[in-house]
Amino acid sequence: MAFQNQTLGEFIIENQSAFSFSTGELSRLINSIRLAAKVVNHEVNKAGLVDIIGSSGNINVQGESQQKLDVFANEIFIKTLTHREIVCGIASEECDDFLRVEGNTESSNNHYVVLMDPLDGSSNIDVNVSVGTIFSIYRRVSSAGTPVVLEDFLQPGNRQVAAGYVIYGTSTMLVYTTGHGVNGFTLNPAIGTFYLSHPNIRIPENGQIYSVNEGNYIHFPQGVKNYIKYCQEEKENRPYTSRYIGSLVSDIHRNMIKGGIYLYPQTSASPNGKLRLLYECNPMAFVVEQAGGEASDGGQRILDIIPGELHQRTPFYCGSKNMVAKLLEYVA
Ligand code: AHG
Ligand code: MN
Ligand code: MN
Repeated sequence: MAFQNQTLGEFIIENQSAFSFSTGELSRLINSIRLAAKVVNHEVNKAGLVDIIGSSGNINVQGESQQKLDVFANEIFIKTLTHREIVCGIASEECDDFLRVEGNTESSNNHYVVLMDPLDGSSNIDVNVSVGTIFSIYRRVSSAGTPVVLEDFLQPGNRQVAAGYVIYGTSTMLVYTTGHGVNGFTLNPAIGTFYLSHPNIRIPENGQIYSVNEGNYIHFPQGVKNYIKYCQEEKENRPYTSRYIGSLVSDIHRNMIKGGIYLYPQTSASPNGKLRLLYECNPMAFVVEQAGGEASDGGQRILDIIPGELHQRTPFYCGSKNMVAKLLEYVA
């Protein structure tokens, strides 16, 4: 089929006009993410051969041990985005505060900020299991030509202009949306080119997979415990299958293709759950909604949450529309 011959570069140019603020700036930004993804992919792929496995010895602002690949991916994405001077600000899960990109006067005239989880699923790096990158793009709210401010980053997810993820899996894919559906591109590693392999991804409305770290079961809210029992009940098309990789990108990507629900609830010890609203939940929620699915914190739509701080966490329930609706009956 013709679309399988279309490269990501061609796709970006062809769809540039569908974007309401089209100046080419967003296209250049997605092109930079594409480039950084290839560099990180290259490193992830030889992780067993070079000294990139293991801890960097640092603890990040969230109190988590940084892996060498976390640090590497963070640097690559930041460098690629700043050297090209196409964003005015960057916020990363691995940086304490947001960064201003103001290399020259032209750069501060840029309109977009990027928020990212440069390496998602770090606990899987050392064991050759899929990891990913998540990115989220907003138009700044402060005036162009001035330094970016915190408010540029603390926008609700419904203001995202683009978001997506890269999955470094059995094949490497880049999946993203600009608010007109979701498209997936697979890297041909021999020639270093992403090709449109999954046009207009639609997440099935129903599914039979639930993904949750069930080791935390004892600490979950009662509604979530009851929902998990519902998933395991022998009735109609249940029990469902349990699949949990421990890389959000991989768990959501599988559910996007096969149908399913992903749960990361709050626990008594972590009343806001673990996942980060700005770097993980908003971008994944935007992609999943654009594919026809739903994402909620148990009380409201993820994309409608007004963020109060950069590293804010939230409970996260995301996936096939009817599965999330059923979960909400239990936790409401
Ligand atoms: P990160 O590697 O960016 O810190 O994210 C890890 C996240 C997410 O990828 C995954 O779904 C979740 O943490 C797994 O957490 P548990 O180990 O608590 O299940
Ligand atoms: Mn993550
Ligand atoms: Mn991470």
